[in-house]
Amino acid sequence: MAQVEEAVAFVRARIRRKPRVALVLGSGLGGLADVFEQPEALGFSGIPGMPDTNVLGHAGRLVAGSLDGVDVIAMQGRVHPYEGHSLAQVVLGVRVMLKLGADTLIVTNATGGLRTDLAAGTLLAITDHLNLTGQNCLVGPNDNTLGPRFSDMSAAYDPDLIELASEVAREQGFTLERGVYAGVLGPSYETPAEVRMLALLGASVVGMSTVQEVIAARHMNARVLGISCVTNPGAGLTSERLNHADVERIARASAARLAALVTGVVRRLVP
Ligand code: HPA
Repeated sequence: MAQVEEAVAFVRARIRRKPRVALVLGSGLGGLADVFEQPEALGFSGIPGMPDTNVLGHAGRLVAGSLDGVDVIAMQGRVHPYEGHSLAQVVLGVRVMLKLGADTLIVTNATGGLRTDLAAGTLLAITDHLNLTGQNCLVGPNDNTLGPRFSDMSAAYDPDLIELASEVAREQGFTLERGVYAGVLGPSYETPAEVRMLALLGASVVGMSTVQEVIAARHMNARVLGISCVTNPGAGLTSERLNHADVERIARASAARLAALVTGVVRRLVP
């Protein structure tokens, strides 16, 4: 808690805007924050307790601004558990954005598809997740000022927000797929046997982020919308080999569509 408060105080002294909506922009998807009006940006590395991230495609900045008239704040890039940081560090950015006043969190990510009907570039609303990381950011003494000891995860991904996002997608001329996100630790991609297992478990996409952020956000009682960009078929579903450059390339190619979708949702969120 002291760490969260220290980080919030640091950010508040440098970012004046009180955000309504918080965003986490994943691999290749950070461009949305570049179009915020009256932007105020802060590198992760300066924020107390926040590690510097250096994964390709992750700028590692907090950017606040106005998106179509709505006060927002975004993490342009995120901290992943596989980088070796503590989970407190992994979720610190989300906690700070919510403490600054946001009551809704929109998380985006790049994922591998576990269903053969999910072509590269498909956008999918996350309906639920499987936390297969073997870790939970709420382990340890509970800070009752942030949230309760035991968080309800029964509707972690807000059904109304999923409906809203689907409606916005329809208006924009495409179908927003839906499915369960399997959150794994990484950083190696899955084996083909693991991909078959995840599909059997009922997951539609797999990725190495998001689940801890969503647990932290639900702990703080924020509403959550998760949008995945399918960047590749899961390992073994095709003869293609996986690499981060391809993942990032496909994410970038989908970034404009994802940005339009998120912008449309944000505009409708705030009266
Ligand atoms: N697996 C895990 N994470 C990913 C993948 C994948 O296939 N693609 C993008 N992120």
